[in-house]
Amino acid sequence: MFPPVKIISPRFEIREFGPQDAAAVAAFVAAGDRTALPPGSPDTLADVDRWLAETLPRRRSSGDGLHLAIVERSTGTIVGSIGLRDTDWATGRTEIGYGTHTSQRGRGCATEAARAVGQWALTDGGMRRVQLHSRLDNMASLRVAEKAGYQREGTLPVAEKDGREAHDLAIYSMTSTGTTAPQP
Ligand SMILES: CC(C)(COP(=O)(O)OP(=O)(O)OC[C@H]1O[C@@H](n2cnc3c(N)ncnc32)[C@H](O)[C@@H]1OP(=O)(O)O)[C@@H](O)C(=O)NCCC(=O)NCCS
Repeated sequence: MFPPVKIISPRFEIREFGPQDAAAVAAFVAAGDRTALPPGSPDTLADVDRWLAETLPRRRSSGDGLHLAIVERSTGTIVGSIGLRDTDWATGRTEIGYGTHTSQRGRGCATEAARAVGQWALTDGGMRRVQLHSRLDNMASLRVAEKAGYQREGTLPVAEKDGREAHDLAIYSMTSTGTTAPQP
């Protein structure tokens, strides 16, 4: 299981979601825009409290990963979320994913958070490898990976299915040794 997380980057505090976020999470759910919330976030307002109080702590205890809020320090606003998942403790490998609210995009939020969380995972988090997958048509995400300091390792053909369509995924990583496969 990961240790408690509180990461301070130049503009953001990146921390675990908690009961204090109920109003902010409910506002995202009510607005029907969940891109700032992690995968598996509630569909309905009635589920928000349980998600914060039970689902997220259970997920943390499972050791699989963490869901973190990206909070702007100057305003206290949650601008997005970032998380670690599919953690393999035996090898020290985890996978990072992120999303920012549509109103906050293009401000460098995801880049700053992806860099800070990747570095945390490789130090306090005890990981050796943080990997990142992105669809090749997700230009913003590919750009975030590159700007945040992840190294492109290659492309995984038809690695994801969205409805009936299969997609190739780019794979990136940040490692404790700083070594990675050569660029394709
Ligand atoms: C991907 C995402 C997290 C980026 O968040 P963000 O806070 O806007 O990211 P940043 O501002 O740090 O960087 C975005 C970069 O992508 C670029 N970008 C955005 N849309 C783009 C496009 N269509 N084509 C090319 N570049 C694009 C921006 O210009 C910026 O690069 P720049 O600083 O060189 O100008 C956000 O778009 C999002 O939440 N998308 C939905 C969820 C998602 O796809 N998550 C990733 C799953 S792998």
